[in-house]
Amino acid sequence: MNEITKHAPAPAPTSSAACSVPLAAPIAVLAELTHRCPLQCPYCSNPLMLEKANVELKTEDWQRVFTEAAALGVLQVHFSGGEPTLRTDLAALVKHANGLGLYTNLITSGVLLDAKKLAALVDAGLDHVQLSFQDSEAENANRIGHYKGGHEKKVAVAALIRAAGLPLTMNAVVHRQNLDHLAEIIALADKIDASRLEVAHVQYYGWALKNRAALMPTRAQLDRATAMVDAARIRLKGRLVIDYVVPDYYAKRPKKCMDGWGRHFFNVSPAGKVLPCHAAESIDGLKFDSVRERSVEWIWANSEAFNRFRGTDWMPEPCRSCDRRELDFGGCRCQAFALTGSAGNTDPACELSSNHQAMFEAALADAASGEPNYVYRRIGGA
Ligand code: SF4
Ligand code: FES
Repeated sequence: MNEITKHAPAPAPTSSAACSVPLAAPIAVLAELTHRCPLQCPYCSNPLMLEKANVELKTEDWQRVFTEAAALGVLQVHFSGGEPTLRTDLAALVKHANGLGLYTNLITSGVLLDAKKLAALVDAGLDHVQLSFQDSEAENANRIGHYKGGHEKKVAVAALIRAAGLPLTMNAVVHRQNLDHLAEIIALADKIDASRLEVAHVQYYGWALKNRAALMPTRAQLDRATAMVDAARIRLKGRLVIDYVVPDYYAKRPKKCMDGWGRHFFNVSPAGKVLPCHAAESIDGLKFDSVRERSVEWIWANSEAFNRFRGTDWMPEPCRSCDRRELDFGGCRCQAFALTGSAGNTDPACELSSNHQAMFEAALADAASGEPNYVYRRIGGA
């Protein structure tokens, strides 16, 4: 995510009764324009039940969402998917968001982009591109994404993005089957003239949880990777910024997932469901409101799904009396649900959770399994 802002936040909406602290305006929206995608990455953050093309929001629906989001105080729109460049109205949506003063970022696999499409996006006011890579090595990258020729296409598209004058971030999701190439992945980011590299260890829910035995790194791999990132940050200072997202299975405390549930961010699914987190649909029993029936402002303030885990009132022990409760907000709700069956539990990544030890042992067993095969992401579920 990028920090550039183009306009000042609007006044925050009033808090609902379910939330005991004043509700701030959201900063960013992740617009999942479609779940369609030519790639099939086994760690995709989209839900297991992907939404089909015939339920996607129309151009005017998305434009209304961006107008309402900007009025609410949103500063950034991240166009994502699936593969957002499959939407033939992408340039029109970028233009609309740009006209509202929003910072526009395209998160793409790049395999469908060419110079003409990029020129249209530049004309529409696109500010930034995040381009995903599956590995530094073509054969393994194309196996992970399950898309022949994809890596070679991405390298070529990176050059087009820079030639178009757009700033470029390279996204690299890392796991056991590409982590030993991290030095080459960092070198590739430098070579394609990315100004930022996001090295993100897989987070295990949805598709990634299904593939955990094939993806979970060993502790030794993780330690080598962390040292390599530290060294590269010094070596490439001033040339490449490296963001590093660690796998919290090996941590003592959880990550502050989503920067806290319903605090700064919302996600809109292709069909218009508004989610506090891109993986929130993996949690059974949450009701998500839709932009087809409600305004963005109403949903942000009143939606049951947003208010269920906002703030700290919902917390059980040990979070409730922990001095870190407003630092990490109890970790990740999706991970708590995936691993304990209740999103209302402390994230088992936390050492203080009674589920931590069992989670860690299961993860270590997966890391040692040597399983090489993936369950690829596909419409219709796994
Ligand atoms: Fe965070 Fe809860 Fe663990 Fe405290 S007990 S560190 S608030 S997850
Ligand atoms: Fe959903 Fe962490 S991924 S709250």
